[in-house]
Amino acid sequence: MSQDLLRVRGLTRKFGGLVAVRNLSFNVRQGEIVGLIGPNGAGKTTAFNLITGTIRPSSGSVVFQDRDISGGPPSRVVVAGLARTFQSTSTYPRETVAENVYRGLLSRISGSIVGLLAGRRERSLSEAGISAEIDEILKMTDLTSWRDTAAGSLPYGLQKILGIAVAMATRPTMLLLDEPAAGLNHEECNDLAKLLHRLRDEHGLTLLLVEHHMALVMQLCQRIVVLVQGEKIAEGSPEEIRQNPAVIEAYLGAPDYAHA
Ligand SMILES: Nc1ncnc2c1ncn2[C@@H]1O[C@H](COP(=O)(O)OP(=O)(O)OP(=O)(O)O)[C@@H](O)[C@H]1O
Ligand SMILES: [Mg+2]
Repeated sequence: MSQDLLRVRGLTRKFGGLVAVRNLSFNVRQGEIVGLIGPNGAGKTTAFNLITGTIRPSSGSVVFQDRDISGGPPSRVVVAGLARTFQSTSTYPRETVAENVYRGLLSRISGSIVGLLAGRRERSLSEAGISAEIDEILKMTDLTSWRDTAAGSLPYGLQKILGIAVAMATRPTMLLLDEPAAGLNHEECNDLAKLLHRLRDEHGLTLLLVEHHMALVMQLCQRIVVLVQGEKIAEGSPEEIRQNPAVIEAYLGAPDYAHA
């Protein structure tokens, strides 16, 4: 297997006359934290939807761990080891934290037939193992003390962390995060950064992050891809991106970039 975990090649998606993503290509290597940034409407979420198989590309391909996953379906993508969180919180508010994490485990089990066909060996989940596995995920994400709290009663920052925990329950190799810091206060943002670093360092996770919070992106990411109106206009280290004239031009007047 090559060092590139994810290879996006010439990805294009049209919505009627609008080209939301145009000829997008980039790689993510094993163990990297890569940022995908761009102004509102740049096509970042559409790129995530294409990569995770929620929508089909008009053209182009997505290769994950040397397997072509272009066009999904999402269950196959999850079983291949690629999970995501959503721009809005997507947990079940009336269910407890543990029950939400259980849903993540279930999505792995229900996809496992596809996984077997794809040649991936699933760890089988005995009933006795489920509780232990939920505990492990909660510990990993610092949610243990909230185990029996309804998701809707959690502080907002923890609801977003729960979204990450649900995704982690699918035991991904790589996680795509769509604006994990949106709506978080300064302290919650620091906790999030620590968690993401820990998931990478201790659990070997590879991360692709869409985020408007530039300070966080610059702090977390080794490499940044910049999208403007569906097209990649730059790619490089945080320092290169910060100084790139095309990027500065694209963000002129955008208040979130002023914090970088
Ligand atoms: N299902 C859809 N049907 C039609 N147009 C869509 C659809 N999804 C996205 N678009 C359009 O595609 C463009 C890119 O949208 P997208 O949500 O990917 O942007 P984004 O970079 O995630 O923006 P934001 O930072 O605001 O979340 C926008 O013009 C949007 O209106
Ligand atoms: Mg978006």
